[in-house]
Amino acid sequence: MSDRLKDLRVREQEAMLGGGPDRLEAQHAKGKLSARERLDVLLDEGSFFELDMLVTHRTEEFGLESQKIPGDGVVTGHGTINGRTVYVFSQDFTVFGGSLSEAHAEKICKVMDLALKVGAPIIGLNDSGGARIQEGVASLGGYAEIFLRNTLASGVVPQISAILGPCAGGAVYSPAITDFVCMVEGVSYMFVTGPNVVKTVTHEEVSFDELGGAAVHAAKSGVSHFTFGDEVACLRGIRDLVGYLPANNQEDPPTVDSGDDWYRLVPELADAVPDNPNKPYDVHGIIQKIVDEGSFLEVQAGYGLNLVVGFARLAGRSVGIVANQPAVLAGVLDIDASLKGARFVRFCDAFNIPLVTLVDVPGFLPGTGQEWGGIIKHGAKLLYAYCEATVPKLTVILRKAYGGAYDVMSSKHIRGDLNLAWPTAEIAVMGPKGAAEILWKREIQTADDPDAVIERRTEEFRERFANPYIAAERGYVDAIIDPVETRSRLVSGLIAVANKRDANPTRKHGNLPL
Ligand code: HXC
Repeated sequence: MSDRLKDLRVREQEAMLGGGPDRLEAQHAKGKLSARERLDVLLDEGSFFELDMLVTHRTEEFGLESQKIPGDGVVTGHGTINGRTVYVFSQDFTVFGGSLSEAHAEKICKVMDLALKVGAPIIGLNDSGGARIQEGVASLGGYAEIFLRNTLASGVVPQISAILGPCAGGAVYSPAITDFVCMVEGVSYMFVTGPNVVKTVTHEEVSFDELGGAAVHAAKSGVSHFTFGDEVACLRGIRDLVGYLPANNQEDPPTVDSGDDWYRLVPELADAVPDNPNKPYDVHGIIQKIVDEGSFLEVQAGYGLNLVVGFARLAGRSVGIVANQPAVLAGVLDIDASLKGARFVRFCDAFNIPLVTLVDVPGFLPGTGQEWGGIIKHGAKLLYAYCEATVPKLTVILRKAYGGAYDVMSSKHIRGDLNLAWPTAEIAVMGPKGAAEILWKREIQTADDPDAVIERRTEEFRERFANPYIAAERGYVDAIIDPVETRSRLVSGLIAVANKRDANPTRKHGNLPL
């Protein structure tokens, strides 16, 4: 080997060592993988092409001038997932706690710029103590450069963040702008201000995990989209997720041979909806029976449980499923469900993923908590998202479609392409009892037996309006179908509208009710 090649190998070796064996051991002792080990799990074997391995920081103070570690705390480059190119960065906590220097930020920006230029997803593996304290404003500027790129890439290429350690302070805003945040129980935490600051300012005593661990962001804040038990599961989960997504907004998502009969009838769906309209059932069972077998990947499974969203395949094509969940709060729409649904619908629309909406919704959740919390503006987000979406939109009304929620849930009026209903559908301004109490108020008030009148009038109303036929007469639903045929009708419909072309008026951007 020539001396020059030997010199190169020595430099590369130094970069591969990161912060050195002791810090690597400490990383492993915390149950964490190293930055490079993570990339090995995430990417196809041997596909990683590293960039900027020899970049170092430029700080000449605080003794850092003698601590220049090639790579400067982040491993960047590109590789493939199931043969498809992705751009990646993986922060190395063993090097200055994965903190972000100017050079570290430049490396991340370089892969983001490349990803945007070639139209490939960006996957960031975050494990960092935040801004490199010794670099001050240069580090803050580095973050801002990343935030800008996250924003410009939004809706152009999919952006996925895994939080695999600390992610604190303003650093959280990069993952927050990306499309998906993945967290690992006991490993990840995200917060704007840590437990010490919280204690000083609000006198609350809270642990790292209670403040910003995986469970909190999955269930309470809704910041994260996927939770995993360990890092390997997380990295494999990201591989699965990428399989549903196109590389960029100009492409269609990949089609796979899912091995499931496209036009399979599903006899179990005949009785899927209980006869009693107030009886709950779990919509997961219906989703799983309709989509290609085993293809449902739920998003935000722990948040806004009254709405279920996720990716699935129908005839091998990616679709986004949005379904009211009658098993939780009767499937009502509230603030959390509206936010969850709106973000998901907008993601699917941005990336050419058709929407399949399963409707069983009694309306919006009443109460001061919801009204004062802004259900008006948050519910409007979901409505806005559906209205602006130009991807193929297929809707099946399973049971209730009441009031404004009927309009919101991908109705014909807001450019639904195929609107189907089961014979069990009830489409009306409100539920039969509420309607009876308003329409026959005087009769009820003056009756000897008001309850008997309510019951009789409710039944009359149900008989007349709580069905899908009035909507069908007007063409608001295109067909009333046998539930058993739902999969085959959706597959035919999806194929028929696959080449849909629709556009919104030219404008700088709309004004989503934030
Ligand atoms: C420079 C840092 C660093 C940082 C950690 N290190 N954070 N170096 N800048 N921000 C170094 C440590 O000095 C240490 O170096 C090594 O990384 C590992 O850190 P430890 O503290 O030993 O690890 P651990 O006990 O696991 O604690 C991790 C930690 C803690 C909780 C993240 O390091 C910490 O609190 N760091 C500071 C976090 C912070 O306040 N960052 C700024 C946030 S504000 P040695 O040489 O001993 O191994 C921010 C603004 C962003 O980021 C603004 C964007 C707009």
